[in-house]
Amino acid sequence: MAVNYKELGLSNTTEMFKKAVEGGYAIPAYNFNNLEQMQAIIQACVETKSPVILQVSAGARKYANATLLRNMAKGAVEYAEELGYKIPVVLHLDHGDTFELCKDCIDNGFSSVMIDGSHHSYEENVELTKKVVEYAHAHGVTVEGELGVLAGVEDDVVAEESTYTRPEEVEDFVKRTGVDSLAISIGTSHGAHKFTPEQCTTNEEGLLVPPPLKFEILEEIEKRIPGFPIVLHGSSSVPQEHVATINKFGGAMKAAVGIPEEQLRKAAKSAVCKINIDSDGRLAMTAAVRQVMAENPSEFDPRKYLGPARDLLKELYMHKNINVLGSAEQA
Ligand code: G3H
Ligand code: 13P
Ligand code: ZN
Repeated sequence: MAVNYKELGLSNTTEMFKKAVEGGYAIPAYNFNNLEQMQAIIQACVETKSPVILQVSAGARKYANATLLRNMAKGAVEYAEELGYKIPVVLHLDHGDTFELCKDCIDNGFSSVMIDGSHHSYEENVELTKKVVEYAHAHGVTVEGELGVLAGVEDDVVAEESTYTRPEEVEDFVKRTGVDSLAISIGTSHGAHKFTPEQCTTNEEGLLVPPPLKFEILEEIEKRIPGFPIVLHGSSSVPQEHVATINKFGGAMKAAVGIPEEQLRKAAKSAVCKINIDSDGRLAMTAAVRQVMAENPSEFDPRKYLGPARDLLKELYMHKNINVLGSAEQA
């Protein structure tokens, strides 16, 4: 039997994005696939009074089970209230690649879906996105489309290089598909290894500085579709302290460079109203777990290492909401 997101107390993105574009901030879209991540996200967003998008990839759905994730999202709404503040919560499919997957999510409580047709030809992307929009809108669900390809790994698809979004396509795409928001490619990429050291310059402190985002493309897009909600994927900043902790306690991460926070802050002030962050959470959790394991080798109670991981995650998300996305106090 189908479950509509409204029965779960979830919201779609319409109101959220309107306020975010007008207010010059971005909504955090944090990926989750387990209890501790969900707890950390909700605790951080309640404490900072931020709206939130709980984001689930196809891989996460397979890993954690669709029924459990849906009920966790329902629980998240109640948990937030129990913590003392009602925040709008969206359950969003990240990188949906087929109509069938999007439909299944819409029929199972998701309030928002992404149909990522960016690896198809333009016309196929239009056709697929339009089909998802028609079904989604009939159920009150909002849809994110994508134009341009990000470098890195998107589920099972690996792209060596970015193909930046072509501003001349956005107006036609938005008009013909009816999407509610548009993910664009302006130099972000997925994963912790976004740039090779060769692609970076070195600053006075000897730190690697990645090439800046293509703000000129974003501005051109904004001129063509003024006020239309824009989404940035691949927006982890790769905190160096977490990479250092991982390596200090037995990890083996190569030099990893992310998107500088100031650039995300700048983007959030524009029509960018949703910023996707997954890898930073993975790094924080891994750093905390490795540290506990290394310092307490006899520990075998999962709560003793997942608890600190949850606390570090919460700290990370609070920092993002307050200092990077500007979503704090907006719920
Ligand atoms: O964009 C990709 C997200 O980080 C989800 O990653 O497919 O490994 O769950 P995943
Ligand atoms: P990061 O890998 O930079 O966290 O990006 C996540 C993302 O875009 C999820 O869709
Ligand atoms: Zn993504």
